[in-house]
Amino acid sequence: MRGRPAVPWIAAPLLAVAGAVLVTGATAPQDRSPRTNYALHCQGCHLPDGSGKPGAVPDMRGELGRLAAVPGGREFIVQVPGTASAKLDDVQVTALLNWLVPAMGPPVPGGFRPYTVEEVGRLRRQRLKQVEPLRSELRRAIAAQPS
Ligand code: HEC
Repeated sequence: MRGRPAVPWIAAPLLAVAGAVLVTGATAPQDRSPRTNYALHCQGCHLPDGSGKPGAVPDMRGELGRLAAVPGGREFIVQVPGTASAKLDDVQVTALLNWLVPAMGPPVPGGFRPYTVEEVGRLRRQRLKQVEPLRSELRRAIAAQPS
């Protein structure tokens, strides 16, 4: 009996296309925009507009800029479990946050200083033990800020 060809004729063109996509990196995860990574890794909980779910997921709109402006808040944004344990590398998380914080606003007084990859890598490896007590502290610091 003759053996079947390893690749049936019908599959060969499909494999060629798949190969081309891989080679050109058209769908390579590293190339995804911050917006796409947000859609894939964050918005399931945070929703497309960052509004979250009342009582479960905080509303990030008009809040991340305030967080970034108080001591410890910039770090918190990286260390919160959703960011720190995202299945994204440090370069991707950095790009994502540098897009997300200004996108959610409000403008950080004095301007938002973009995260560096080194900073994000270092911070996300220092996990927060307790999120809520720290968040309450930051909430108080934000309230004490001149508006
Ligand atoms: C499984 C649901 C879930 C996913 C996915 C998720 N988060 Fe979150 N996120 C939360 C919850 C819940 C909180 C509130 C703090 C906590 O309990 O961790 C939070 C808090 C935050 C905060 C702090 C907001 C504040 O006002 O305190 C930031 C920033 C954040 N997430 C960013 C992200 C980013 C960026 C991603 C994607 C890479 C992401 N999260 C993915 C559920 C999620």
